[in-house]
Amino acid sequence: MKPSSRLERIPPYLFAELERKIAAKKEQGVDVISLGIGDPDTPSADLTVEALRRAAADPGTHQYPSNRGRPEFREAVAAFYQRRFGVSLDPATEIVPALGAKECVFNLNLAFLDVGDVALAADPGYPVYTGGPLLVGAEPVVMPLLRERGFAPDLTAIDGGVRERARLMYLNYPNNPTGAVVPDGLFEEAVGFGEANDVLVVHDASYTETTFDGYVAPSFLATPGAKDVGVEVFSLSKGYNMTGWRAAAIVGNADAIEAYWRLKTNIDSGMFDAVQLAAAATLAEGDDFAREMSSVYQRRRDLVCDALRAIGVDVTPPKGTIYIWAPVPEGHDSASYAEHVLEESGVVVSPGGAYGPNGEGFFRISLTVPDERLTEAVERLRSSLGG
Ligand SMILES: Cc1ncc(COP(=O)(O)O)c(C=O)c1O
Repeated sequence: MKPSSRLERIPPYLFAELERKIAAKKEQGVDVISLGIGDPDTPSADLTVEALRRAAADPGTHQYPSNRGRPEFREAVAAFYQRRFGVSLDPATEIVPALGAKECVFNLNLAFLDVGDVALAADPGYPVYTGGPLLVGAEPVVMPLLRERGFAPDLTAIDGGVRERARLMYLNYPNNPTGAVVPDGLFEEAVGFGEANDVLVVHDASYTETTFDGYVAPSFLATPGAKDVGVEVFSLSKGYNMTGWRAAAIVGNADAIEAYWRLKTNIDSGMFDAVQLAAAATLAEGDDFAREMSSVYQRRRDLVCDALRAIGVDVTPPKGTIYIWAPVPEGHDSASYAEHVLEESGVVVSPGGAYGPNGEGFFRISLTVPDERLTEAVERLRSSLGG
């Protein structure tokens, strides 16, 4: 059986060797602590679970959902966007549910790219921004996110030939994996770029509700002109501990949303109505929960950054996300450092190279580990790698 050539174009899984070493360590009886995956370790809010319980008990939620989404869901997203971001959205035309940001980002490639078209993808970045275009026969062109530029892409460096072929641009702030928040002026520049080059700007807002030190993350759609050129993908996964629920929304440009909806009617049958109602309740009443989770991650961030500094790592504490992004010490590349950390301390960190060529030279730590395990991991880093 031969997989499609499209599938074969996806680059090899960079965690493969690390995973083999983790398995070997475990076999030796080492209590491995993984700081690799960004998946909140505490439950969803009680109000979310209760809303689901109520909605699931109503037989009216048991049939096929509509790909347009329930009015209650779309209205809750609109009310949330108005209250939280000062952005007005028409629930009838500018909001559609998505089965998580991952599904949405992937399917946008199918909806907007023909073979040979280009999608501009931040590098380092969430792997679907580059894998998605490859899977639909298009070409991802990376926009380097460099530390010295605050992890903002340099849009002026994108050459004319690429601009002509580009149809999509992916941005994501607060950013995975770098933890950067949006640099001043970038969203405005992206609107100008989208207008000038007929490119749909897709802002992945998966981490806007997880921020620290009083920082409040904006919506891309609050930028003047953004709705003319772009959409935003808002996910409940990370901010509300709902990764298992597959609940997100695509909002913004009505024509783009219509195209996404049309595509989706050919692919799936929408989000379980009861999940839509639970997500609506969460958006209406979940602000305090998201703030509490942010304070948990802020405390964990400080714990990890203090430990990294103590072992000589030059880390900048992020203002958002559930990740710490730090340079690997001299003498290592990202894979060899991840292996070294595992070998010396039994702690797993993600090699930066797994997020694209410009992630090389960095490693990522996820803060979604119970406090006592994180404290233990930090102790091990200090004692086995320090001094
Ligand atoms: C930037 C980014 N976008 C999207 C996702 C996936 O989100 P969802 O659970 O909504 O599919 C992730 C998950 O790690 C992410 O980091």
